[in-house]
Amino acid sequence: SANAYLEKERTLAIVKPDGVSGNYTSSIRKIILESGFSIQREFTVHLDEDGVRRFYAEHSTKSFFPSLTKYMTSGPVLIMILQKVNAVADWRALIGPTDARKAKMTHPNSIRAMCGEDLERNCVHGSDSVESAAREISFFFKEAFPEGTTLEHDEL
Ligand code: TYD
Ligand code: MG
Repeated sequence: SANAYLEKERTLAIVKPDGVSGNYTSSIRKIILESGFSIQREFTVHLDEDGVRRFYAEHSTKSFFPSLTKYMTSGPVLIMILQKVNAVADWRALIGPTDARKAKMTHPNSIRAMCGEDLERNCVHGSDSVESAAREISFFFKEAFPEGTTLEHDEL
């Protein structure tokens, strides 16, 4: 039909330090590709405290923030831009609930159930909305994908 075009979305995925150090990146990459995402860009970085504070600005006043910062700076993380139709919601569904302990009970096939431990050490990140995805992608890939960049190709 005339409206059969489905717009692709991008989302930001992070394999957190426990995911990287536990050698889960290849399993996670396999799940990503088998689920129909393309990986547009990726790089590994060791975040510092300031980077975590700026990335997780919405949480910077929460009581769990110092502990979250310690965790997120404990080793390198893998940053990825994932693209597909409905990427934001589909990646959130694949990773499962924030609390990995809960994920193991209620979403045993989720990525957080596979490699996470608890509410803090949950091994992966996913943007929570299209707006967050745009902000988070421009945070890590400012030059390549400024906010508002339109999607026309799988590989840019
Ligand atoms: P949040 O945005 O609520 O979860 P999600 O990652 O599922 O979007 O929280 C961001 C991260 O902060 C979360 O992945 C793990 C950590 N966190 C804690 O350590 N303790 C907490 O109580 C919460 C809510 C989150
Ligand atoms: Mg969140």
